[in-house]
Amino acid sequence: MDNLYVGKKINMPRDLDKVKKRIRELRESINYHNYLYYVLDQPEISDHEYDQLMRELIGLEEKYPQFVTPDSPTQRVGAPPLEKFETVTHTLPMLSLENALSEEEAREFDERVKRFLKMEEPIEYVVEPKVDGVAIELVYEDGKFAVGSTRGDGYIGEDVTQNLKTIRSIPLVLIDRFEPPPSRLEVRGEVYLSIQGFKELNQRRMKEGLSLFANPRNAAAGSLRQLDSKITAERPLDIFCYGIGLSVGRTFQTHWEVLGTLSKWGFKINPHIKCCMGIDQAIEYCKYIAEIRHDVPYEMDGTVIKVNSLLLQDRLGVKTRSPRWAVAYKFKATQATTRIIDIKVQVGRTGALTPVAIMEPVNVGGVEVSRATLHNPDEIKKKDVRIGDTVVVQRAGDVIPEVVMPIPSKRRGDEKFFEMPTTCPVCKEPVEKPPGEVVPRCPNPRCPAKIKESIIHFASKGAMDIDGMGDKLVNQLVDKGLIKNVSDLYYLTFEQLANLERMAEKSAQNIMEAIERSKKTTLGRFLYALGIRHVGEHMAQVLADNFGSLEALKEAGEEELMAIEEVGPEVAKSIVGFFKDGYNLNIIDRILKAGVNIEEKKVVIKPALLGKTFVFTGQLESFTRDEAKRMVQGLGGLVGSSVSRKTNFVVVGKEPGSKFEKAKRLNVRILSEEEFKKLIAT
Ligand code: IVH
Repeated sequence: MDNLYVGKKINMPRDLDKVKKRIRELRESINYHNYLYYVLDQPEISDHEYDQLMRELIGLEEKYPQFVTPDSPTQRVGAPPLEKFETVTHTLPMLSLENALSEEEAREFDERVKRFLKMEEPIEYVVEPKVDGVAIELVYEDGKFAVGSTRGDGYIGEDVTQNLKTIRSIPLVLIDRFEPPPSRLEVRGEVYLSIQGFKELNQRRMKEGLSLFANPRNAAAGSLRQLDSKITAERPLDIFCYGIGLSVGRTFQTHWEVLGTLSKWGFKINPHIKCCMGIDQAIEYCKYIAEIRHDVPYEMDGTVIKVNSLLLQDRLGVKTRSPRWAVAYKFKATQATTRIIDIKVQVGRTGALTPVAIMEPVNVGGVEVSRATLHNPDEIKKKDVRIGDTVVVQRAGDVIPEVVMPIPSKRRGDEKFFEMPTTCPVCKEPVEKPPGEVVPRCPNPRCPAKIKESIIHFASKGAMDIDGMGDKLVNQLVDKGLIKNVSDLYYLTFEQLANLERMAEKSAQNIMEAIERSKKTTLGRFLYALGIRHVGEHMAQVLADNFGSLEALKEAGEEELMAIEEVGPEVAKSIVGFFKDGYNLNIIDRILKAGVNIEEKKVVIKPALLGKTFVFTGQLESFTRDEAKRMVQGLGGLVGSSVSRKTNFVVVGKEPGSKFEKAKRLNVRILSEEEFKKLIAT
């Protein structure tokens, strides 16, 4: 007994040592994999393996709470909600940047720098994307994350340490393998929310009836200023670090060296940074960043041009609030504020009534905008937009400008609520709104607005691609009674076109030629051009791939259509309904009679496959799912997404899913990959 007691007494600390050692190992391993995943985007282990490490650590820390430390990866979420934020005084002020709004102003910045330094030779600059988020500072003491704060007024910010800890790309412990970090290190960066993250967050808020964020920056700021860090943890915030404040005992020669060293310590640095010799190169690179602006998953509002040499930075110094050694070269803003003068209702091709804001003209991203969509009456209600409101409008790429939200504080009291009309503003037919739908529609097939829009769509690029047949010409043709539907386009004469106002003979000739050229088309384009509800460009191609000919599609029933992956009941119903309608069939007939030639896919029909439905499950070895699908379709078969009694074959690859079980249950013929290969080869 004595021995045992002694043994235990001696072993206990040793066991605890073991536990401590294992906890240390786990933390190091988790931190390392965290870094690979969140900072470098190059994971080495599966999510499952990572979860296992994390679970083991959580288990040990629960059992041995004496070993829990604030820098443990388990501590990223879990702090109790705060009453209010404490304040943090920045050791060195967090400055802001002066803006350059044109290339000329960026060159003026370079001239100012040279004049100040009395230098004539080109200056070396570092160009960085200016990510649109929230400026923060991270303080590390002996390589451990100690305090994180917002910029605040530049001198005093708010302590948002708990919230920053939830951001996985912020290291809690620095990597010291390459170089031990200084005893105190202050790192500055931009916390942001990806565009996808922002959209998902707003969708969730919309469902919950909460107010929406206008843009990812506001959403990031709102998320970072949560008193309960559990809420922050649910928002996929990320960071790019771009500089340092104080760094005790470690000096640097260049800004480039700062960024490189931060990266070695485990901080996330934007991959699109570049060192440029002279302002010409720097501006050229800024233009490149502007080009790739929409290819990155987050919003940027410009680039930052920084003098690379820290010695020169020092000599240049700072003005009151901004350094002389850097400038923000801003893109043209894609959001702006203006006033809504009126709300009008537009009728689209499908009869959808869309409320459109008529606004005081405003420049958004270099384009003058005076109309913006309000989507539908429900959106107007949700956002509480009123006639007379000052609103935020935005324009992204080629997308139609939209009203983001009103600014209620700018209301004067004479704003008016918008009432959606109950009759079509063009043909006066009472509008319909099926229960559960948000969009009211004009049901009149002869509504001139619908006819015009359907013709514009028919002639558009992805459809029949009739060059020159834009909205102005279509309006004229319909108003003059020269065309009543899309088929009439193919019966227009040169004289009719040439007689139109402001139409030169040459232009009329060009349009006649464009109409002629459009007669040679593909099934996908033709189906899309017809403007069948729920059949967009992609769906039209799916249908073309599956049916190969217009005749085959015309014959298809709802069930046959729904056997195709991607075709749901609504789409199937709409297609069958379209081809049942005599009015539509008549139009198609007239188009074909005019000589429109639809290139049919060469389907080498295999009687064994004709009309048979295949469903795939599991991984195939010889080809991808897509290849297999195309093979079946090319031989006259159909491809379904789910197994039913109507399925003829289920092709089973490696690790099949529940479809395999269902096929067995329903007695559907099961083919191995080899059997499938034989079937299509014979
Ligand atoms: S440097 C003294 N670099 O832009 C230098 N700022 O007014 C101060 N920002 O909200 C900042 N990306 O957080 C710098 N690569 C970058 C940046 C950047 C975004 C933000 C910054 C601040 C504003 C500057």
